[in-house]
Amino acid sequence: AEAAEPAAALAPAQVVAHRGYSGLAPENTLVAIEAARHSGADYIEIDIDFTADGVPVVIHDDTVDRTTDGTGAIREMDYSEVRGLDAGSWFAPAYADEPMPSLEQALDSFADQGGRLLLEYKGGWSANAVAETADMIRDRGLADSVMVQSFDVETVRNLRAEAPELPAGLLRSRLDGDPVAIAEELGVDAYNPNAERLLERPEVVDELQAAGIEVMAYTVNEAAGWQRLTELGVDAIITDHPAQLAGWNRQF
Ligand code: G3P
Ligand code: CA
Repeated sequence: AEAAEPAAALAPAQVVAHRGYSGLAPENTLVAIEAARHSGADYIEIDIDFTADGVPVVIHDDTVDRTTDGTGAIREMDYSEVRGLDAGSWFAPAYADEPMPSLEQALDSFADQGGRLLLEYKGGWSANAVAETADMIRDRGLADSVMVQSFDVETVRNLRAEAPELPAGLLRSRLDGDPVAIAEELGVDAYNPNAERLLERPEVVDELQAAGIEVMAYTVNEAAGWQRLTELGVDAIITDHPAQLAGWNRQF
């Protein structure tokens, strides 16, 4: 029966560029953010963690090993040790010496060049650490352009308390329990699930949206998945290939 639905009845999901335009450029670098800005994405997602001396930096893993020419845990290295690392060569030689940006450098690019940021806090962040990043966002006049998210429930609580004006999402790798109850208890605006797990409990999309909570599903790189999620009516799809998803969306 679904196959008989005209495509025009569907509304396209918003496009979120995952770790910048990570299909095209080294993830979580300024060049990946810049590529995402020109991809047709509605949001640019990046991950942040912080160094031993408390500098928030843009990185996905808890070590620098995979995405730079260095080794070590990011929270055990000073910023002076990470700022000179090559975060581009692992992806392609053309990106040699592309640095790992600090959060402030990434925010500067949004302040200067525009775009909407989906900012993921990796690991646990204290209230004070979250408050510092909120001030960096406010100082640049970016409060209307930034949505925050985390898998870490305590970090989400700290974000709601310290930056209540920033819309917030709860990331979930599994859809355990009652997603609406969990989202409402935390006071988040969005529930951002692993897409494969969401497709096992598709009714959750309507339940969340009926409660006024958006659904932003990660990370889907193929049209078959985009189709299923669009039929479910998710609010946003997070993808490594934002230009392709934006192009695919033009059918609707
Ligand atoms: O934005 C959601 C998605 O990025 C979460 O997964 O591991 O890519 O940060 P991960
Ligand atoms: Ca992420």
